[in-house]
Amino acid sequence: MAFTYFFRDLQTLEVIIEHILPSLRGRRNIDIWSAGCAMGQEPYTIALLLKENMGPMIFRNVKIYASDIDHSNLFSTIIETGSYPEEELKRMPKEYFTRYFSPDPKKPGNLIIAEEIRKRLIFQRHDLLTLRPVRDQLALISCKNVLLHFTEEERVKVIRMFYDSLVDGGYLLTEQTQKMPPELSHLFEQVVSHAQVFKKVPGR
Ligand SMILES: C[S@@+](CC[C@H](N)C(=O)[O-])C[C@H]1O[C@@H](n2cnc3c(N)ncnc32)[C@H](O)[C@@H]1O
Repeated sequence: MAFTYFFRDLQTLEVIIEHILPSLRGRRNIDIWSAGCAMGQEPYTIALLLKENMGPMIFRNVKIYASDIDHSNLFSTIIETGSYPEEELKRMPKEYFTRYFSPDPKKPGNLIIAEEIRKRLIFQRHDLLTLRPVRDQLALISCKNVLLHFTEEERVKVIRMFYDSLVDGGYLLTEQTQKMPPELSHLFEQVVSHAQVFKKVPGR
């Protein structure tokens, strides 16, 4: 259930750089929620992308709330340590690999993500079906490969909760195969046709 990897779904990651990053310009707080984050590969990928592409924007203003139901109760330690087997990191573009990872002195064969990146993530165990967001006024929510485990009714409630916890004009990302339920389509505009990236329409 927690299968994932760094830099998954490059098409959507490109939309973050081209469409979402420019909208974050001038914000003092850039709060992001990676909902159903598994062992941190998705929120760390977002943190790395922002760090590399923010230009004059201040990376220290970014906070990524990474949450997962985490039945194993292991994700917190993995995410806080930021240590991953080198094998798992090979798919990532080389420049990220060389710039932000160094050998883990405590675990041969593992690499640790740089502290400046680690500091931007806050992990919490959280069940999306409680319908309580980790916080409000979020600039971006990424919830990928999680909603497919829910019933249609649960999906609708969770996406409605995401809508309520985004800032006006904030963004929601889902995986390519996850379509917006028709009864919620008035809440969001789809940003591009080739990725499931939705912009909140205010006041709905
Ligand atoms: C396949 S992983 C997706 C990881 C990452 N988002 C991605 O797309 O690469 C699905 C994750 O959803 C989490 N999950 C399942 N049900 C959940 C729930 N009710 N609340 C929060 N997380 C949940 C699982 O624990 C698992 O880590």
